[in-house]
Amino acid sequence: MRVLTVGGGGREHAAVEALYRSGAEIYSVMNNANPGIIKRAKAYRLVEDVHVDDICEFAIEHDVVWAFIGPEAPLEMGLVDALGDIGVKCAAPTKAAAMIETSKSFMRQLMTKYNIEGNLGYAVFKTAEDTEKYLKTLDAEIVVKPNGLTGGKGVKVQGEHLNSHEETMAYVREVLGKTGSSGGVVIEEKAVGEEFTQMVFVDGKRIAPMPLVQDHKRAYEGDVGPNTGGMGSYSDADHLMPFVPKEAREKALEILRRIVDALNAEGCPYRGPMYGQFMLTRTGPKIIEINARFGDPEAMNVLPILETGFFSIIKDMATGKLKDEVRFKNLATVCKYVVPAGYGTDPEPGHEICVDEVGVRKCGAEVFYANVNEKDGKLYTGTSRSVGIVGIGRTIEEAERICEDALHFVSGDSICVRHDIGKRDVIQRKVDRIKSLLS
Ligand code: AMP
Ligand code: GLY
Repeated sequence: MRVLTVGGGGREHAAVEALYRSGAEIYSVMNNANPGIIKRAKAYRLVEDVHVDDICEFAIEHDVVWAFIGPEAPLEMGLVDALGDIGVKCAAPTKAAAMIETSKSFMRQLMTKYNIEGNLGYAVFKTAEDTEKYLKTLDAEIVVKPNGLTGGKGVKVQGEHLNSHEETMAYVREVLGKTGSSGGVVIEEKAVGEEFTQMVFVDGKRIAPMPLVQDHKRAYEGDVGPNTGGMGSYSDADHLMPFVPKEAREKALEILRRIVDALNAEGCPYRGPMYGQFMLTRTGPKIIEINARFGDPEAMNVLPILETGFFSIIKDMATGKLKDEVRFKNLATVCKYVVPAGYGTDPEPGHEICVDEVGVRKCGAEVFYANVNEKDGKLYTGTSRSVGIVGIGRTIEEAERICEDALHFVSGDSICVRHDIGKRDVIQRKVDRIKSLLS
């Protein structure tokens, strides 16, 4: 029952709580001193999550048998392959299978090769001149993305962030300046609609679905501003989304099933949680991105309502024995991330933040610590998201109210929250928008 956990964010704290509830003995490595994870771990070490050798050394020292890996960066570094070599069974993809996230062009090409529905038009360029020639042949709006990992922050959308050809080209040059020949720039067809997240557990062959979630990537209320890792998210008691019809959800699951089959056919079977970011458009769900892990914040919506023991799911994914059904409670959740002021552009770290855990719990909410550091009994913000507060209720409305009540128990002089997430009128506007788009 000894499980290694890798990562020190809100997603990993939620995973550690779910593992703890299901009886696992937890050994953790993380970049930052996350007090929620430290509380549950038998032992922990502060290690950069991309330092594969140090993580393997810790795993050997503590004789761990199983591993859960939260973030994508260690997957790209081949941590699963290295842990496999020392006999640790991982509920996470190998370096080859994780390319479904780490290379956007690999993902798009795989979907093209296997004729999988839900793909978007795309092209990858290594120079600004070639990109510009291509852009001149298009008449529809596009999205500019670095080809590699960006933590969700490198994507700019025409009509939102890029409002002229000049602005688009300036951003293309900026991306190429940063990624250079390592990956290039991806120009993607812009999908118009509403986004939703479908995550599934995968054991190499089979998938078991999790409830649908909607994240909010834009930094500011009203879904404007720069893209972030995600400011907060909600899920509904029936595990659908108020604006996603059942058939669209089935289609999304079918797309993920076919991606899992395609990875198998390519000789790199996928194990672990898989994250499908979809845009529900007039012509059905389209893939915005696939991630080789749980979403953050989305993990904080689904893991607190997981009924099946998380440890047994980890074991089943790692050993190819996943049951078709993984059970979740029929409850709604609303998660709002407390972030350092300036998050999304230039956050200023190192400010004290206070969390009254008892107060939060009395409201019926959960608290998940993220990019904070505990020092001499006090908590300090980092440059990324600080604390996730999750309200849980019978309806989204109830969960949202609980989340807002609980947020009164988090204080600091340099923090921000997107209060609009999960609000009734905001969701109703999405429902109306999709109704008119699909009619
Ligand atoms: P990503 O990191 O690829 O998930 O992109 C961040 C955000 O940019 C997404 O959540 C979308 O809101 C937006 N985005 C990315 N790709 C597209 C696309 N092809 N069409 C429309 N919006 C997109
Ligand atoms: N919530 C978006 C992500 O985890 O990439």
